[in-house]
Amino acid sequence: MCVLLFMVLYAALCCASSGSHQENIETLMDNVLVLRVPYGVNSKVYVPLTCGEAYQNQPVFWKKNGMELNPALQGNQIRVLVEEMDGGNYTCHLGPNGENLNHTVILVQLDPDNRTVILEEKSPEEGHIHCSASNYKGSFHCTWTRARLRSNAVVLLVKAERYLEKIPCELDADGSGVHCQDVSCPYKEEKHRITLTIYISSYSRLEVYTKAFYLREIVRPAKLPSLRISDGKVFSWTFPDSWEKPETFFALHFQVKVVHSGHVCNSEEHIEHNITEETKYEVNVKTKKYVFCVRAQDKFTSGPWSHWSHCTVNKEQVDC
Ligand SMILES: *[C@@H]1O[C@H](CO)[C@@H](O)[C@H](O)[C@H]1NC(C)=O
Ligand SMILES: *[C@@H]1O[C@H](CO)[C@@H](O)[C@H](O)[C@H]1NC(C)=O
Ligand SMILES: *[C@@H]1O[C@H](CO)[C@@H](O)[C@H](O)[C@H]1NC(C)=O
Ligand SMILES: *[C@@H]1O[C@H](CO)[C@@H](O)[C@H](O)[C@H]1NC(C)=O
Repeated sequence: MCVLLFMVLYAALCCASSGSHQENIETLMDNVLVLRVPYGVNSKVYVPLTCGEAYQNQPVFWKKNGMELNPALQGNQIRVLVEEMDGGNYTCHLGPNGENLNHTVILVQLDPDNRTVILEEKSPEEGHIHCSASNYKGSFHCTWTRARLRSNAVVLLVKAERYLEKIPCELDADGSGVHCQDVSCPYKEEKHRITLTIYISSYSRLEVYTKAFYLREIVRPAKLPSLRISDGKVFSWTFPDSWEKPETFFALHFQVKVVHSGHVCNSEEHIEHNITEETKYEVNVKTKKYVFCVRAQDKFTSGPWSHWSHCTVNKEQVDC
């Protein structure tokens, strides 16, 4: 009888753990394990957990997400069965209701991790992460948007590096962006891309997002300040304060657009359209009601355009 029971147990263990290769389990950071499972397979994997060497001879009891387990899990070293995406926070306690000694969070990542659900795609070209910098000094900001049903998602870790050199970053308070500062020779010709990796989890699901870019591809001049009109026809503006100096070396050019009154600057229909390298422009339109729009781009890299600045002209009344 005992032998039979043992065999049944053994069979159950054997099959449940088939496909449970230890290389699918990785420590992401202190107290966090990541289990990689293939998509579309009812995976069942045993994951070994340890409460801690210090508790070797203590009566250790485990809970999952604060709940007692049935049957109870006891012992300093145990194995827990993780089915599909059902990870969790395993805490170990001194005795069945004793103090919390330690914990291990098991997160599950799909392998390959290409069916993401946590972040929304910004656009097919840009992917899930949008990065921007207002000059070449090495400071940049990246943002992402959690899907509506995943607003609880937590950023666990952000890594940024350029050719094995770490770039320090700080997560925004709301968890939907990160600010990084590359301190290594900002004006050097960029040979290697910056790689940004975001580890984000929702319930027990872990997703990893990466983005690689050159700083020059994301440098977008700030919105042009001090836009005003003089002589009733000539608009002028200045370089953004955050732009590189000298301005003669870090040249910008400007796109000027006159659109119909009530239209937005992105409107396809325009009355007048031009590119200039000067910080002023004389409009040549008959109408007395229009919107004057202007934006800037790095003349040499042809990187992203700044956001539009505009003035609304209604006869004598001008609003900039
Ligand atoms: C707590 O558990 C982690 C594994 O999640 C282990 O690395 C660590 O050493 C344990 N801490 C103590 C104090 O034993
Ligand atoms: C897991 O549980 C421990 C102990 O209650 C807690 O300190 C930790 O913040 C929890 N972690 C997560 C990710 O829920
Ligand atoms: C994810 O990758 C797998 C294996 O490479 C592929 O078969 C599948 O079509 C991919 N799915 C998506 C949504 O890209
Ligand atoms: C564009 O602007 C220049 C001056 O900056 C002017 O000479 C030229 O006529 C303008 N072109 C058009 C099509 O308005």
